[in-house]
Amino acid sequence: DWTPFAFAEETIDALKAQLTNDKVVLGLSGGVDSSVAALILHQAVGKNLHCVFVDNGLLRKHEFESVLDSYKELGLNVKGVNAKQKFYDALAGLTDPELKRKAIGRVFIEVFDEEANQISDVKWLAQGTIYPDVIESVSVNGGPSATIKSHHNVGGLPDFMKLKVVEPLKSLFKDEVRRVGKALGLPADILNRHPFPGPGLGIRILGDVTPEKVQILQDADYIYIKNLKESGWYDKVWQAGTIYLPIQSVGVMGDERTYENVVALRAVGSVDGMTADWSHLPYELLAKISNEIINNVKGINRVVYDISSKPPATIEWE
Ligand code: XMP
Repeated sequence: DWTPFAFAEETIDALKAQLTNDKVVLGLSGGVDSSVAALILHQAVGKNLHCVFVDNGLLRKHEFESVLDSYKELGLNVKGVNAKQKFYDALAGLTDPELKRKAIGRVFIEVFDEEANQISDVKWLAQGTIYPDVIESVSVNGGPSATIKSHHNVGGLPDFMKLKVVEPLKSLFKDEVRRVGKALGLPADILNRHPFPGPGLGIRILGDVTPEKVQILQDADYIYIKNLKESGWYDKVWQAGTIYLPIQSVGVMGDERTYENVVALRAVGSVDGMTADWSHLPYELLAKISNEIINNVKGINRVVYDISSKPPATIEWE
């Protein structure tokens, strides 16, 4: 019978034999897959596992700091890299969703390559690839592995791609990955985290991305997610997020007329992201979130709720 403990034990033994004293580099995304891959490799090779966690400036509010702290508490050898400006520079003026994805993927590879090159004598590239990633062409997991794979046909290969690849979770489904993570002591806030796309808020800001828009979206999204958690709805939906719309509408605040932007709230139920139904969040909860966002986030005077299912809509708006 498959158990997470037996899987972890066997995999750790096999990794020890395979990797011996070699150095391994792994890109952490804050998601479940790369985190579990890191934990299992850490038990096999200890400090020879070098983790890199890139702040692309498109993460949720406080996410970089809090996830980095969790990783350090787990004893991982992890380097946090602030590369925000590089991503913002590459995104400046871009409005097409696929061009934005390409730019984000390209910069990620540049930054990751630079970091990997600083680890002398590194032999292996570890990835948190899981079974559905292997069988589907589109990854629903987000994170560096998805980004790397979809872009390695552009130009010459970056140095880290000449490394040997190790993918310890390649045979597992998502629920099995979670069970292994739990067995290895991964904290609940990482274990139960919603999927988050690799390009992050970059594809939740429709049109061009600026640091100012990122901050507004982070603030609105923080209020949304906090309320989902407090009301118990976070664990009932499969994925949730806030979308910044490049549309201004008229509002009134005190005696003042306002002309500010709209955010859309999205929450869906799904099994694997391939199909999804919009979640029937209670009206009272939506009312509370809407008030809190409009009263606290400067630049937003209107909140709408997305009631489209997939298909024919998609989960993300871009
Ligand atoms: P859609 O919008 O296609 O999303 O219904 C399905 C799932 O995939 C995620 N997603 C992405 N993940 N890079 C990723 O790593 C991407 O470019 C990307 N686009 C969508 C989305 O968050 C959802 O979970």
